[in-house]
Amino acid sequence: MPAVPLVAAAVECLRQGCRSLSVGNRSRGSLDALLQQVRPLVGQAKLRDFLLGAPPPDLPAGAILINATSSGLRADEPPPIDLALWPRPAGVFDMIYNPPRPPLLQAAAALGIPHANGLAMLVHQGARALSLWTGAAVPADKMQRAAAAALAPG
Ligand SMILES: NC(=O)c1ccc[n+]([C@@H]2O[C@H](COP(=O)([O-])OP(=O)(O)OC[C@H]3O[C@@H](n4cnc5c(N)ncnc54)[C@H](OP(=O)(O)O)[C@@H]3O)[C@@H](O)[C@H]2O)c1
Repeated sequence: MPAVPLVAAAVECLRQGCRSLSVGNRSRGSLDALLQQVRPLVGQAKLRDFLLGAPPPDLPAGAILINATSSGLRADEPPPIDLALWPRPAGVFDMIYNPPRPPLLQAAAALGIPHANGLAMLVHQGARALSLWTGAAVPADKMQRAAAAALAPG
């Protein structure tokens, strides 16, 4: 089964001109399945893969780090990687939006790294679908504010 969120992230990175894509996963079997999905899309970009427990020493600093795994859906679990041990990214995006600040984003905040959760991704998927279905302009900003308020702790 393809990991649709990860493939979507790879496609958008490539559309934005990303020239180097590093795809990591916890286990080898699903990593190979992921690569089968991503490899045909990369064109001239450099693609490399790694296991989360054994990241290559030359991962670039200043990258955009995206969590497309389900690790972090529970606020009390450890982040999928130890951010402090990795080359410092320019920003961290976690596709998870509930909890609003999953463990990886807590770590990014503690290190002063710009970060965002997956709420905008959720909202813009919904807005696009609604617009296709109705043909009407859809107020994504209002949807985002309403969703953020609904998910805010307390
Ligand atoms: N913001 C949005 O609109 C939006 C939309 C869709 C999905 N999402 C989010 O995107 C994420 C991925 O979605 P999905 O449908 O692909 O979910 P999924 O099928 O549950 O994701 C499985 C992936 O997560 C990895 N994983 C699970 N627990 C892990 C852990 N403790 N440490 C490291 N890796 C772990 C798995 O690794 P193995 O292969 O080793 O098991 C596998 O690669 C989810 O968090 C989901 O909530 C967000």
